[in-house]
Amino acid sequence: MKIIVAGATGLVGSEIIRQCLDIDAVTEVIALARSPIQIDRSNKSLKIKCVMIEDYEYYPDHVKAVFAGADACIWTVAITPFRSGSFSFEEVKRVCQSCTLTGLQTIYEAQGGRAFRFMYLSAEGTPDDPTKKPMFMGDYQIMRRETELQLQEFSDSNANIEICIARPGVVTNSTTWGRAALASLLQLTNHFSRAIPNVGRSELAAAILSQILHGFSGEILSNVDLVGIGQEALRAKES
Ligand SMILES: NC(=O)c1ccc[n+]([C@@H]2O[C@H](COP(=O)([O-])OP(=O)(O)OC[C@H]3O[C@@H](n4cnc5c(N)ncnc54)[C@H](OP(=O)(O)O)[C@@H]3O)[C@@H](O)[C@H]2O)c1
Repeated sequence: MKIIVAGATGLVGSEIIRQCLDIDAVTEVIALARSPIQIDRSNKSLKIKCVMIEDYEYYPDHVKAVFAGADACIWTVAITPFRSGSFSFEEVKRVCQSCTLTGLQTIYEAQGGRAFRFMYLSAEGTPDDPTKKPMFMGDYQIMRRETELQLQEFSDSNANIEICIARPGVVTNSTTWGRAALASLLQLTNHFSRAIPNVGRSELAAAILSQILHGFSGEILSNVDLVGIGQEALRAKES
């Protein structure tokens, strides 16, 4: 299976790439990024091809050619709420929405009608009703919901494409001291309740890859769904 991972330098994208190395069924990975990705020099990493672009809204012909023959794409590109304060809302919307739609259209067209799966990373708490603006980051959340709806519309009006929306909660990880502390705290409280929806980075990547490989179990996957699928996939890998 040939998979395109858009946003290969990101927190989620880089873990997906790492896990692809250990999955024999994944034979080729197109790591789409704005800067080089860190990969080891083992034999397994030969299946990863780093393709750099300047902007996720523009795809030169040589990049479109690399997309051909892909079976799936995992789209992790976004300006997250935490970083959105450093950009105008117009730019946040361009990266989160216009780039996603253009990326999907370009990758879809490169397949020439072959069956194709597209997994889009959204977030837990995205309002179902786009007319009801949440109190916190209302414009941002409505824009993310509109993006989800535009993707579903694309899937409804085009043949041979399946689209799934993953809505993780906080992605816990240990990439910095602060993140490791938060991950430990949430791990502890998860024994009692998952009051703040959260999913481990490796669980999330495992869940996404499992769905890409074996088929989508729904149009939208909640944080609970992702935790369950991810834990099962990691257990299967260990046994
Ligand atoms: N992390 C979480 O706790 C969390 C929770 C819920 C949902 N999610 C969702 O999961 C997805 C992936 O999240 P993540 O944590 O992996 O995000 P991330 O590490 O911030 O970055 C994701 C990707 O987006 C690209 N990107 C960021 N800003 C950009 C810009 N201004 N222009 C073009 N590309 C830009 C990054 O490219 P560069 O490396 O080149 O900047 C990176 O490849 C997002 O949709 C996010 O909303 C994340």
